[in-house]
Amino acid sequence: MINSRLKADLIHVSQYGRNPVHKVSEYHQLTPYNGVNRVTGSLANKEIRDYAIDCLKECGLKLTIDPFGNIFGRKEGTEKNKGSVMSGSHLDSVINGGQFDGTLGVFGAIEAIRRLNKENFQNKRPLEVAIFTGEEGSAFGKTLLGSSAYIGYTEAEEALQIKNKQAISLKDTLKNIGYQGKIRKNVEDIDYFIELHIEQGPVLYQEKIPIGIVESINGILWIYITIKGKSNHAGTTPMNMRKDALLAASGIVQFINSESVKLSKTPGSATVGTVGQLNVSPNAINTIPGIVELGIDIRDKKIENINLTKEKLLKMIGQLKDGLKLKIDYNIATFLPPQPLSQEVMEIIRESAQTIGVKYKFMNSGATHDAQNMARITKTGMIFLPSVNGISHSPLEWTNWDDIEKGARVLTNTLKLLSNK
Ligand code: GLV
Ligand code: MN
Ligand code: MN
Repeated sequence: MINSRLKADLIHVSQYGRNPVHKVSEYHQLTPYNGVNRVTGSLANKEIRDYAIDCLKECGLKLTIDPFGNIFGRKEGTEKNKGSVMSGSHLDSVINGGQFDGTLGVFGAIEAIRRLNKENFQNKRPLEVAIFTGEEGSAFGKTLLGSSAYIGYTEAEEALQIKNKQAISLKDTLKNIGYQGKIRKNVEDIDYFIELHIEQGPVLYQEKIPIGIVESINGILWIYITIKGKSNHAGTTPMNMRKDALLAASGIVQFINSESVKLSKTPGSATVGTVGQLNVSPNAINTIPGIVELGIDIRDKKIENINLTKEKLLKMIGQLKDGLKLKIDYNIATFLPPQPLSQEVMEIIRESAQTIGVKYKFMNSGATHDAQNMARITKTGMIFLPSVNGISHSPLEWTNWDDIEKGARVLTNTLKLLSNK
């Protein structure tokens, strides 16, 4: 592995949002409780943005920050009327997350521009780096927040007014860290989008293949459910006089798992279903749970499966309401259908992998990415790198530096080929 500037950047930014603050440069330094916390609007989120801005400026790129806090850096092309080639990802993280999710795609794109600058490459099309706000949804409860607003999938005002857990709007959150821009960037003049990302699953690592070429991204549905029962004394309230919100919630947890297991066994599906969030109130051993909130994440390659689970879930909610005399509300925070990526871009990535001489594999993405949104408006591709032991959204997330170098080379070559098309 060459000691590239990309490696130095990724080690540098690994300190942001880690408590206590320290950099991690090798796998053996990771510990399970010491991940990164860079949710949108946090100090660490500002610090990593500031660092990325310095890098973009250093590359000579012209900066734009839009009202949703998305950051763009642009290098003009030699031909005037051609659409641009954009590459990037996100800098926010999940809670207690890993150091490569998102950062790889941002600093990978910056590195590609650096390498092209160094060899004095004359790009015909403009080259752009994108850093999208709030991809993870950890602060605002909605995934792909910045790219959804950017492409107009979410209305501008709706996105700006969405509130985080402290009831502060996205607009004010961004203002507080100095990242609420004024200019809305045009989506029409982008002809290609490429995102370099860690796989976040086991396939490439198990099969010892350094490059994944993504064919499609699973659809995703996020539903939040609030169950209101009645808090009361656990010792004195007879079993037949209870309105236990957690009892209903536990039925939903079981249901999501069993439905997903069932669907995952049907041909052509890639079903996963998770209840990853559960807030129990008052959360006391001797009190019947009065209010429970659940966050449900359902994904699949087949939209019919997502819709089926959703319909069954809503029916079940109706039955629980009537049977247990509870009040149940739900809110669909995110829905994105399964998204095929561009055949043309896949072929260019394949050509790049062949030119560089690395093994590759075509594959599906279980995780969502800003590329899922960008594919709705332009020809889009993704390059995956192996995740050690298939671990991600965890402090133990790791990708080997040799693989990162291979990814940087494939990305650089891909941008080169596309920008001259
Ligand atoms: C983002 O990483 C997601 O897939 O939830
Ligand atoms: Mn990501
Ligand atoms: Mn992620």
